[in-house]
Amino acid sequence: MTNLEKALTYAQENKEKFLEDLKEVLRIPSVSTDSERSADMHRVAEWLVEKLGGLGMEHVEIFPTPKHPVVYADWLHAENAPTVLIYGHYDVQPEDPLELWETPPFEPTQRGDSLHARGASDMKGQVVATLNAIESIVENDDFPVNIKFMLEGEEEIGSPSLVDFMESHKDLLAADFCLNPDAGMLGKELPSITYALRGLAYFEIHVEGPAYDLHSGVFGGSVRNPANTLMKLIGGMKDDDGHITLPGFYDKVRLIDEEERAELARLPMKDEFFLEQTGSPALWGEKGYTSVERVGARPTLDVNGMLAGFTGEGAKTVLPAKAMAKVSMRLVPDQSPDEVYEQLKQYMEENAPEGIRWEIKIEHGGNPSISKRDTDGVNALANAFEKVWGTRPLFKREGGSIPVVGDMQKILGIESVLTGFGLPDDHIHSPNEKLDLPTWYRGIEALIHFFYNLA
Ligand code: BES
Ligand code: MN
Repeated sequence: MTNLEKALTYAQENKEKFLEDLKEVLRIPSVSTDSERSADMHRVAEWLVEKLGGLGMEHVEIFPTPKHPVVYADWLHAENAPTVLIYGHYDVQPEDPLELWETPPFEPTQRGDSLHARGASDMKGQVVATLNAIESIVENDDFPVNIKFMLEGEEEIGSPSLVDFMESHKDLLAADFCLNPDAGMLGKELPSITYALRGLAYFEIHVEGPAYDLHSGVFGGSVRNPANTLMKLIGGMKDDDGHITLPGFYDKVRLIDEEERAELARLPMKDEFFLEQTGSPALWGEKGYTSVERVGARPTLDVNGMLAGFTGEGAKTVLPAKAMAKVSMRLVPDQSPDEVYEQLKQYMEENAPEGIRWEIKIEHGGNPSISKRDTDGVNALANAFEKVWGTRPLFKREGGSIPVVGDMQKILGIESVLTGFGLPDDHIHSPNEKLDLPTWYRGIEALIHFFYNLA
């Protein structure tokens, strides 16, 4: 048996163990936004330290940051072989609304082929798949390439500490490229490599008027209503064709050329796919673009939440003193969150009427990115997918954001190979998040091939 065959056999024989490992880490509620769970963040970091040590990794270390720690480890004894920096995040999104979960979010539960838990797909499942692939190899062989790990706990809150961490640890993190398994696949039989990610700019817009909630009869008609005013302002940010009307918003948007449009049109995601996945009665978006293009290659502006006035049962005749909306934009190269903030500010300055006070609070942001496709890392992964799935991977643009990818290009000067074994219907960030286990096991095998292909 070759060492590759030995590793694949180990993976086959240890499926139950791998699943138990994953369940163990899914039980720790590492919600990065929740300050009451910082002890849980540390527990996951310690869990990772123990795993990495068990795999023979060296220099395993927890680096504190102003928020949640970064876990680092390496193994650098493969001569004349490339060095791969493996990125992952061990934080998860909040579990709410809790009442919509069929089984508790932090008690991983199997139903059929699915494992349900917060973080199963995004992305503890992907981190553990990578560890399992490495375990399968080091059980019988020296690792074929050099590896370094950078596992952060702040991805879901916009990685506020990671840029500083990378800037102050450039030598430690030096590598030929990064493997980032935080991007999913398009379907069970459609292994995918992501080559573009959108960025994000996230704000709260606050509007205030009267000193307190007024009787809407006694005073209604005499002052501006902050809720109406905020709605009108937000309504004016997009026209009927779905174009965003902030001044200069499209100035830096890189257009997709005809060749890429033709390529995107060949992806198996047609309108039926979007209708089915979203459950929406109809599709809508920027005029002149297909759904795939709108999601992958065009920016958006969306309200993520609103707060104003009375929202309890029945009617209350009140004129709210203030209103708030959470508004975010998904960005594409070469937009930047800072520039979009200036555009939003300018729009508000030009359009906010007299008679209210307003303020924009910056939540967080992240840069968009486009990754090179003709690299050794991408080829090694494409060949690995072909071995396991019997088909070449699809190359896709992702509408979600992984800001570290663009930051690594700038700070460390390296490209990322973006993959993952989550599916579009995994309900990430939503109740009942799940992971498709047969796909996950195939992913572990693919990663084993990938590491051997690189050597
Ligand atoms: N893994 C996701 C991004 C993603 C989703 C990639 C689906 C591929 C397919 C990541 O964890 C995520 O959710 N990112 C946030 C980033 C933000 C908080 C800066 C996002 O996109 O909302
Ligand atoms: Mn996420």
